[in-house]
Amino acid sequence: MCGIIGYIGDRKACDVIVKGLKRLEYRGYDSAGIVTGDGEKLEIRKGAGRIDELTKKLGFLEMKGNRGVGHTRWATHGVPNDINAHPQTDCTGRIVLAHNGIIENFSELKEELIGKGHTFKSDTDTEVIAHLIEEELKSSENFEEALRKALRRLKGSFALVIIYADEPDRLYVVRKESPLVLGIGNGETFAASDVPAFLEYTNRVVFLDDGEYAILTKDSYVVKRLDTGEVVEKPVHEISWTLDMAKKAGYPHFMLKEIYEQPRAIKDAIHGNREAIRSVAEEIASYDRVIFVAMGTSYHAALAGKYLLQRLARKIPIVEEASEFRYEFGDLVDDRTLIIAITQSGETADTLAAIKLAKSRGAKVLAIVNVVGSMATRIADLTLYTHAGPEIGVAATKTYTTQLTVLTMLAIELAKVLKTADEGYLEKLEGQLAKVPEMVELALKHDEPLRELAESLKDRRDFFYIGRGIGVPTALEGALKLKEISYIHAEGLSAGELKHGPLALLEDGVPVVAINPTGKVFDKMISNIEEARARGARMISLSDREDMAKVSDVFIEMPEVDELLSPIVYVVPLQLLAYHLAVMRGNDPDKPRNLAKSVTVE
Ligand code: G6P
Repeated sequence: MCGIIGYIGDRKACDVIVKGLKRLEYRGYDSAGIVTGDGEKLEIRKGAGRIDELTKKLGFLEMKGNRGVGHTRWATHGVPNDINAHPQTDCTGRIVLAHNGIIENFSELKEELIGKGHTFKSDTDTEVIAHLIEEELKSSENFEEALRKALRRLKGSFALVIIYADEPDRLYVVRKESPLVLGIGNGETFAASDVPAFLEYTNRVVFLDDGEYAILTKDSYVVKRLDTGEVVEKPVHEISWTLDMAKKAGYPHFMLKEIYEQPRAIKDAIHGNREAIRSVAEEIASYDRVIFVAMGTSYHAALAGKYLLQRLARKIPIVEEASEFRYEFGDLVDDRTLIIAITQSGETADTLAAIKLAKSRGAKVLAIVNVVGSMATRIADLTLYTHAGPEIGVAATKTYTTQLTVLTMLAIELAKVLKTADEGYLEKLEGQLAKVPEMVELALKHDEPLRELAESLKDRRDFFYIGRGIGVPTALEGALKLKEISYIHAEGLSAGELKHGPLALLEDGVPVVAINPTGKVFDKMISNIEEARARGARMISLSDREDMAKVSDVFIEMPEVDELLSPIVYVVPLQLLAYHLAVMRGNDPDKPRNLAKSVTVE
């Protein structure tokens, strides 16, 4: 997720922008750049690296002009390097912009624009926007009209700040499904991805909504709708956040912010993979021996991936922890094996070792990764990105649900290529997947009841999470979240295993969390739930079936969703429950003891 700061006023723009970029650093980035303008003259300086280094190396603070835009880039299309850093420009260099988001249809637009004679410099999806505006300008009365025409052709998500050299008194800003706020000062106006970028100068904020754009001058701002061009009256909010609160967008912790970002992240995962998924599916469809390798939460995504491939693509994958694979499986792998490595960071030592070993044995490796340009993407044959944006909380949340989203898309696409599932059913699944972000919104509405529930559970010493079928990975992930941040002992297991041991541990009041979406094993789960209740368990169940309420002490009603998509939706209340328990027990959920975000040693 990139960071943007735009400024127009009487100050030296570069001073405001460099400070703003430093304030956005926490969002994570790999490169940065600035454009400033003095009248019609624009200057761009940009590169890969940290802001402090770039400020020295490129002389950011020597840039002239009272208006400008700065950007921190978290790569999504094109590796992190100087050319792919923003701002990006059109052919003339007069339209300069910074972008946060993903342009889903960028390859077809790029092809079309190249056909019309445009020359591209970078591999980014962003550059397409500048050329598209340039193209539309040829048949428009003014820049604003060209901008609106161009933006209507873009699919995906975008927050943009744009400078047009011919109009030195203004900045254009746009928001669709990526964050952007305006800061209203005295004789100066700001636009940024997040409030901290300009909080030092003003606390008067205008929140743009999706599908709106604004024209900013130093003393004014006008907000309009992208579709109709109508002016929208927007209230100015005076915020009283501290800088730390502002970084978390008002949430008390990054983890909670990231839990709430999931609807947006899942949308980005869908948008960002629509084009790539087909060719990847075609390339791997013929492999019958499939081994998933991953660690931690990514391992749970792999387990869900196994169920998805079994049910939709009729494959029988093996799922191995990368740390086990590297010592147990290496010599069983050959050029007929497909390895699907799942890793948020792309830097986990065991997962990298597993990939290297598999490659040395001639296997084909597909990596599913969040961090663009990370080591896993460099050594794998194929990569699919999860597009979750940087995750700061150590416990994985949005990176997990986006991994699941990509795996679901991959399984559907494989089933289409292999013709292993009914076409109508696959279409229905695709339709439902597009609605999953809304279902996650509904799941998030349980936040307050879950906080109250946590209150009554905070002194428990043991928790059990049970599920069957594709509910098993959700049970495991729910238990992992709880262990990681609340330090309460928790076990996730397949409900069929209960009577082979864990039942002996159940006594009065022990919380058992049951994952039970409508599906193949719904009734089997009811029997398991009864077994646990008969031993005194306090049953907390998640289901879309109201009759589950009768066999539960606490019933968390979930939206109706095909069971194959349920892992993405059902994990959300479990993340919230773990979060509230951690906070109530006085722990910092963002930085759990003894754990690291990325485990780069064996
Ligand atoms: C660490 C993190 C987990 C993560 C695991 C695998 O344990 O704390 O959140 O799931 O590493 O990391 P990866 O980057 O490979 O997904």
